[in-house]
Amino acid sequence: MIIDGKQVAAQVRAEVAAAVKELEARGRTPGLTVVRVGDDPASAVYVRGKRKACEEVGIRSVEHHLPATTSQAELLALVRQLNADPSVDGILVQLPLPKGLDESEILDAIDPGKDVDGFHPLNVGALCLGKPAPRPCTPHGVMRLLAEAGCDPKGKRALVIGRSHIVGKPMALMLLEKHATVTIAHSRTADLAAEVARADIVVAAIGKAEMIRGEWVKPGAVVIDVGMNRKPDGKLCGDVEYAAAAERAAAITPVPGGVGPMTIAMLLVNTVELARTRT
Ligand code: GUN
Repeated sequence: MIIDGKQVAAQVRAEVAAAVKELEARGRTPGLTVVRVGDDPASAVYVRGKRKACEEVGIRSVEHHLPATTSQAELLALVRQLNADPSVDGILVQLPLPKGLDESEILDAIDPGKDVDGFHPLNVGALCLGKPAPRPCTPHGVMRLLAEAGCDPKGKRALVIGRSHIVGKPMALMLLEKHATVTIAHSRTADLAAEVARADIVVAAIGKAEMIRGEWVKPGAVVIDVGMNRKPDGKLCGDVEYAAAAERAAAITPVPGGVGPMTIAMLLVNTVELARTRT
């Protein structure tokens, strides 16, 4: 089974559009503000995608594009201004920030009640404690894909490969919350092949093209590929060797068209949820 992220994302967007209509009927249009600093080309593409998705479901989207020379104090001042602006429901500071800016201090300054990414320490702590809070969009989207694929993590061995703050760590916590037995593997893991071989669910988020070999995958496992890499021939590929893994897996996400479309869809979900909470 191929897990079609485009299709699930379209379904999520339709749900969000209906929720936006309901809020609008109460005179409350949800608003997302994206802050982009500098001219990282990948960030420009991502932010354009986020804004387009907002427009499609009726979320008001505003972008603040600041030059790469912006100082820490200037960026902090903007975040504080957005915190105080009642028309702003969600604030997203696109990462990575240009060199010289302290990412952690900026994320800490965002009002936790407007933190659509769920990156604020208070929201990370809430996730850790199993309390309601905005969930980081990519792992949140992965959980929805697992549900759509009919995969209940309860009692399963789940392997998360990668320990980033954006994907790996929150992913592990969300799988744990759903009662999986969770292992986190990373660049220093001694025998990755052996870890993959015993996993019922594999979530690959290491950012290395086709590093997870298909022959490692346990027959019948569910494989979720968060990777988005470019091969020397220019083609996009994931962290998993797709064709070989697909022969063994019960279900697998393609790249592109798997996790990618879900990240933006869950950003919309989080924005509407924050607007509802603030209403
Ligand atoms: N850069 C790459 N992924 C993300 C994300 O999910 N949120 C933000 N703010 N920046 C990112």
